Amino acid sequence: MTSPTAVWETFRKRFYYTTLENIENPKAYTQLGADLEELDQTYKTGGNRIFYLATPPGLYSKIVHQLGVSGLSGQDQKRAYDHTDSAHKTKSKKTKKGSVRLIVEKPFGTDLDSAQALNTKIREVFGEEQLYRIDHYLGKEAVQNMLFFRFANAIFEPIWNRRYIDHIQITAAETLGIENRAGYYEEAGVLRDMFQNHLLQLLCLVAMEAPSSFESERIRDEKLKVLRSVRPLNLKQIDQCAIRGQYGEGLIDGETVSEYRNESGVARNSKTETFAALKLHIDNWRWQGVPFYLRSGKRLAKKSTEIVIVFKEVPHLLFKSMIPGRLEPNTLVLSVQPSEGIALTFQAKYPGPKFSVGRVTMDFNYSGAFQSASPDAYERLLLDCMAGDQMLFSRGDWIEVSWALLMPLLNHWKKTPTPCFPNYPSGSFGPKDADDLIKRDGRSWRSP
Ligand code: BG6
Repeated sequence: MTSPTAVWETFRKRFYYTTLENIENPKAYTQLGADLEELDQTYKTGGNRIFYLATPPGLYSKIVHQLGVSGLSGQDQKRAYDHTDSAHKTKSKKTKKGSVRLIVEKPFGTDLDSAQALNTKIREVFGEEQLYRIDHYLGKEAVQNMLFFRFANAIFEPIWNRRYIDHIQITAAETLGIENRAGYYEEAGVLRDMFQNHLLQLLCLVAMEAPSSFESERIRDEKLKVLRSVRPLNLKQIDQCAIRGQYGEGLIDGETVSEYRNESGVARNSKTETFAALKLHIDNWRWQGVPFYLRSGKRLAKKSTEIVIVFKEVPHLLFKSMIPGRLEPNTLVLSVQPSEGIALTFQAKYPGPKFSVGRVTMDFNYSGAFQSASPDAYERLLLDCMAGDQMLFSRGDWIEVSWALLMPLLNHWKKTPTPCFPNYPSGSFGPKDADDLIKRDGRSWRSP
């Protein structure tokens, strides 16, 4: 067997680096095309190419335009996109020239208009079947596992609905601040940075119907249906369904960290939110009346991404006279990070003659069960792109609907005065208002 070092050495020799001094200069693309042609000849790559847009987002349209003008986009592959099976089959056919694909890093637009404009611009040059809009959450092992967990097991699906589930919590908590990304983050804020993409993707995976087959278009269709069923946010009662926050000074892992407004590059009176909590409803038969509470923030007490399914209480409690108070409901926690796993908690009787119960947990942990490290999300996504599998990438229509969902709130927050920022200390779990949002409904956040 070839040693990993030998593989790496062979691989390493195939790296080439070139800069385009002026990305709007057509000549630069002619040169790039010639260089790629030469590499094609040397390595017999069959003309397969991936262009990966990881530049500042403002350059995406310009680069794509030039790729089109210079004929590097494999334009003969472009055709009107539809979702029919026949289109799907022709997709996998390779042209004589190999396949040309485009990866687009997030953020994909900064609002609905810019996302639509970018989609339009890109589609002038590339077909949807060539497009790979990255959301690295979809490449995380535990996120991919959600499909398998839900649809490869018979026992969960019958209870995965309003009859048995009381509510669902989705949390993406970070201890990090904004690092050195003030320029981007000041404009973005947490709604654009985490909700429009990662959190809404998680929501779709947990709430979607079973697709008819394990094909990317079928899965992406079902995810889109979820987003389309999310009830528009009621701006008249905005405080009941959306909370924003910005971190102040505080302690993270025993170290004092400064407030957001003191981060380098951040305006001293910045109104950018670094935390948000939303309560969403999905108007369909499966989820009617089941709230979805989403929250994400920077500089929180712990890094943790998880989805908590909280089940309803038993309809009639036999043990009322023996057990004071209420029994905690069953929960199923799908942990995405830092540890990857699934935990089901339920009640069990303490051993002994007395009747008392306690919560116990059945735990599945990836590292323990499989004893192999999960690949990095990007590894998986790049491999999928090479293989032409779009399942774990965002489709253009999904992107637009996700923006459409958040636009009323983004506009509302822009227009209305912010709460008194900073309104949560670093190292906490966000502003008190976020706790009140869920407490008002007689529920509470699960602490990660
Ligand atoms: C990125 C955001 O998309 O996701 C960052 O731009 C955030 O602000 C990061 O920190 C979180 O990713 P992960 O994988 O650490 O949860």
